[in-house]
Amino acid sequence: MTTSLSFAARFAARPSSLKTSRAAFKLSLLAFSLTGAFVTSAFAADAPSAATSAPPKSEINAAVGTGVKFTPPPESAIPDDEFGKMVKLGRNIMLDTPKYAKAYVGNTLSCVNCHTDAGRMAGSAPLWAAYVSYPAYRGKNKKVNTFEERLQGCFMYSQNGKAPALGSEPLVALESYAYWLSKGLPVDEKVAGRGYPNLPEPAQAPDYVRGQKVYEAKCIVCHAANGGGQYVNGETVFPPLWGAKSFNWGAGMGSYKNAAKFIYANMPYGMSYSLTPQEAWDVAYFMDAQERPQDPRWQGSVAATRAKFHDSKFSLYGTKVNGKLLGDIGAPKVR
Ligand code: HEC
Ligand code: HEC
Repeated sequence: MTTSLSFAARFAARPSSLKTSRAAFKLSLLAFSLTGAFVTSAFAADAPSAATSAPPKSEINAAVGTGVKFTPPPESAIPDDEFGKMVKLGRNIMLDTPKYAKAYVGNTLSCVNCHTDAGRMAGSAPLWAAYVSYPAYRGKNKKVNTFEERLQGCFMYSQNGKAPALGSEPLVALESYAYWLSKGLPVDEKVAGRGYPNLPEPAQAPDYVRGQKVYEAKCIVCHAANGGGQYVNGETVFPPLWGAKSFNWGAGMGSYKNAAKFIYANMPYGMSYSLTPQEAWDVAYFMDAQERPQDPRWQGSVAATRAKFHDSKFSLYGTKVNGKLLGDIGAPKVR
């Protein structure tokens, strides 16, 4: 545990670097993970090949494994005018959502925790690919959603908060940022790099105990034994994967299929595509079999909520895992 704590302390500078140079933080994290005791303790024992076969680093080559050719403009190209101010606010909301969109956030996550590299990273549901894909019909709310409406969804579920009103500053800022990132990209919802790369079905059905082993070997050092992440001076250094401060049961990451794809392409941090597909499925299943805030679309009972919103084999909500009924935590907290 001392390893992980000092590891967190090492990155106490992260929150302040957010505003100026997140890239520098990422490189320092990467450099440390390549040279420090971290790799030795967390990976070497379980993945002896990691050192020799050097897995692709998403932080260095965003496009690895995705076949993506598009590169969004560099941040230095954000114009120095009123529009540029809005773009920068959108970027700040992505990087530190609890600070810049406080009224709409009910957990300690930021958009960037799942849409890595400030929403630029191919294979991590990048904002530029999303921007050119709306309006679109969504089965989740059974209507055609505008881009702003899609943004509202991530506030309600992934951020366990509430939706900013259409046309309000947070949504205008995020939309401006996404539009600016997508400059030069044709309008096309099949754009390469959108969402997460496909992951084949696992050879063996995803398994809790195998997933727990992957978690202990490859995730615990950053995300902690209780899945609660790590904090320095109240700022999130490593985000929570489950528990009261994480995404709620209505979030896209709560589908273990989505989670497996995200994890395969993005985790462990700085070691994209280093897990086997089976490991990604198993650890995603394990993560999504833990308790988290109630689905805000609560129908009065777990069974009714499952029947209406979780009728999928990839949602464990309302199912029994290890004798525990998941989601059986009462009505959502009102905020
Ligand atoms: C080196 C530290 C580190 C390791 C090891 C690591 N992660 Fe992460 N993880 C992060 C960071 C940092 C983020 C946020 C990314 C960002 O903000 O750019 C993150 C984000 C996530 C997220 C999305 C945000 C959330 O809280 O839900 C998931 C899911 C996740 N990690 C799962 C895993 C799993 C599963 C493993 C093990 C296979 C793992 N991580 C290993 C550092 C790590
Ligand atoms: C806990 C992880 C998580 C957090 C935090 C999060 N999202 Fe998402 N987001 C997802 C997942 C999962 C999807 C679905 C991706 C898919 O279906 O391929 C998604 C989808 C999206 C999409 C649509 C992508 C597309 O291509 O259609 C947008 C836009 C988006 N999120 C914006 C945001 C914004 C803005 C924030 C912060 C206010 C945010 N998200 C916070 C996990 C997260």
